[in-house]
Amino acid sequence: MRNIIILLLALATKVLSTPVMTRQDLFKQAHREQFCTNLINFNHFYYSMDEPKNITGIPADMSVHWKTGKVFYTLISDEMKMSLQVLHPSGEVETIKVAGLGQSTTVDNLNDIVYLATDNGIYKYKDDGSIELYTALGEDVMYITVSSDGATMYIATWPQNRVHKITNDGQKQETFSAIPNGHGLTIDPRNNIFFAATKTSYILKNGHNVPIKIKGLPSERMSGVFVSRSDEIFAMDENSNLYSIDAENASAKHLGNFNVSGVNTFALDSADNVLIGVKNAILKFVAYEKNPCSDYPK
Ligand SMILES: *[C@@H]1O[C@H](CO)[C@@H](O)[C@H](O)[C@H]1NC(C)=O
Ligand SMILES: *[C@@H]1O[C@H](CO)[C@@H](O)[C@H](O)[C@H]1NC(C)=O
Ligand SMILES: *[C@@H]1O[C@H](CO)[C@@H](O)[C@H](O)[C@H]1NC(C)=O
Repeated sequence: MRNIIILLLALATKVLSTPVMTRQDLFKQAHREQFCTNLINFNHFYYSMDEPKNITGIPADMSVHWKTGKVFYTLISDEMKMSLQVLHPSGEVETIKVAGLGQSTTVDNLNDIVYLATDNGIYKYKDDGSIELYTALGEDVMYITVSSDGATMYIATWPQNRVHKITNDGQKQETFSAIPNGHGLTIDPRNNIFFAATKTSYILKNGHNVPIKIKGLPSERMSGVFVSRSDEIFAMDENSNLYSIDAENASAKHLGNFNVSGVNTFALDSADNVLIGVKNAILKFVAYEKNPCSDYPK
């Protein structure tokens, strides 16, 4: 009897000293298998898709405030109504209250200012959620983009369909008649202007008068152009093919694909994570510099 007790005690100690497999561990292991098999590798990064953020409607014109990680976008509802939204890093979505009709947003990441384009001018959006009139031009502002030094803004107005350059005191400076409308208006640090016409991406190089169709990108399938925090210029088509753009020779190079269809807008956050807006969701592909599954048996 005594021997049996000692034996049982010895067994119990042995069981306790080996790692216990809990349900949580099993879940992690299963999740890890899924995580590792779905990893996408291109553009010097390994990407894994996070839990999608479900929304109701189509997100458009995404921009990111590097410092806070807040994602700003225009939500087009099923009834084709537009509203400006902010997706907080916590996953919470908030509607930005504007005077009039909110059309789109842009972020001056150098000076931490978020600008709102509305049908009655441009507003500044403050961190506490309040807004302040920046400039009223007497035109309906559809799209805006701001130079990387924050000094110059390019705006597209409706129904005139023209793009103006305005200085940071709100004065109009120059009109770019060669740009048919401001869809997808984006500016790079060298003041080259990118825009889309019939879902085809063009560049109007700084100092030029004639826009050029960017070589190496599909026609009539582009979702837009985005300048990353490290000043790299990216483009994405509707089928989530990612391209890098060389503004100098107006050409693009295909980098890879995220296996997502129906892309309407995309953006990169300050850590080069890729955000993709599709009908009813914002997807986030987390970028890893090193393979997070290098020790995972295939
Ligand atoms: C988001 O939508 C997808 C597909 O419609 C669904 O499978 C998923 O459960 C939803 N997620 C949340 C958090 O509601
Ligand atoms: C554009 O320039 C890049 C390097 O700056 C080069 O790799 C690429 O081949 C060029 N593309 C064309 C079409 O000339
Ligand atoms: C692409 O996504 C579909 C589902 O949307 C999936 O069935 C397919 O396996 C994926 N392909 C790759 C290469 O990951």
